[in-house]
Amino acid sequence: QTRHLFYGSGPQAGVATLPQKHAMVMTFDLTTQDARELQTLLARWSAAIGVLMEGAPVGQVEPARASAVALDTGEALDLGPAALSVTIGLGPRVFGPELGLAGHRPAKLRDLAPLPSDNLRPEFTGGDLSLQACAEDPQVVYHAVRVLTRIAKRTGAATVRWTQMGFGRASAGKGQVTPRNLLGFRDGTRNIREPDEFDAHVWSREGPAWQHGGTYQVLRKIEMGIENWDTDRVDDQNAVFGRHKASGAPLGGHHEFDTPDFTAQGADGAPVIAEDAHIRLVAYEHNEGTRILRRSYNYTSGLNAVGRLEAGLMFISYQNDPAHFEKLQRKLGAGDALNEYISHVGSALFWVPPAAPEGSYIGAPLF
Ligand code: HEM
Repeated sequence: QTRHLFYGSGPQAGVATLPQKHAMVMTFDLTTQDARELQTLLARWSAAIGVLMEGAPVGQVEPARASAVALDTGEALDLGPAALSVTIGLGPRVFGPELGLAGHRPAKLRDLAPLPSDNLRPEFTGGDLSLQACAEDPQVVYHAVRVLTRIAKRTGAATVRWTQMGFGRASAGKGQVTPRNLLGFRDGTRNIREPDEFDAHVWSREGPAWQHGGTYQVLRKIEMGIENWDTDRVDDQNAVFGRHKASGAPLGGHHEFDTPDFTAQGADGAPVIAEDAHIRLVAYEHNEGTRILRRSYNYTSGLNAVGRLEAGLMFISYQNDPAHFEKLQRKLGAGDALNEYISHVGSALFWVPPAAPEGSYIGAPLF
């Protein structure tokens, strides 16, 4: 089994880490105005995550004293580390006036601007802290989030705001086969993969030295109109993305990793990759080189209130400036052929501090 390291001198695990199969994101609201309580929570979370990523329980499952309440809930015993990573994010309000930490605010942390396609529901939006837990085993993911939620409750510093379980990665890292999202298309073909691309587009180098290697995490819960999509002709579906559904090849190309030819025209003179195709609008070639790391997951929540399949993409992106996401989303919101089939129902922005060295905890220099 793969084991990822929690402690280190670079970025936190869970960003450049090859996307694991399963994920859960959970955001929390602060319930304290005392920075020391946040400090305690970050220290306890860090210690627990370090142990969880080793594949070990965070305390006794069956305490010696029979009347004691167990520290670890037990459901991940024997499952091993399963490539678990848990990534902590800090939201804008952590650096607001209440806690006295405003002097440490990362240069680009703020609320995301209102964006076209926003159909945001408060129950899937915002949060002051985020946890992104990913692993090859869904029970290991759930156990991590459950244990960390218990710690938050006991500390009294934060309470759960919203959560989403993701099954099936919908992004690819270096050497991974590109998976498919729930619309049936390969997702993650033209993603950031190489270390120099991470340096240029993902890791921040702003602010004091201890903040270098941090990054900004965008969470967007994007609902899909699955029934609608399933009645659409496949050639129209291909046109929506500008790619072939089965192979993932760009229209006009033959293989998944062929470079899209955005200038090619069909016999009728129309562009082979349509003007409103998803990949044409967001390609870095058409956005002054702007690139983001996509690390999304498919999700489903069964049926919604009117009996339709409730499913979509838990979109997660990392970039060294949230304005890069906003720039791409403004463009998509204004003209993406995909808009007919999707709706952005949740949103949040967090700063992901770098990893902590052994013996310390995430965010320690804030205090
Ligand atoms: C590319 C699906 C939302 C940014 C793609 C591709 C697919 C896809 C199938 C082509 C394969 C690939 O290169 O990965 C979706 C779906 C979405 C969604 C189903 C919503 C449910 C977004 C959002 C953004 C975004 C919100 C950012 C604001 C990108 C970028 C590319 C891409 C940058 C690469 C384009 C290129 O360089 O060719 N997406 N996407 N996507 N998507 Fe999305």
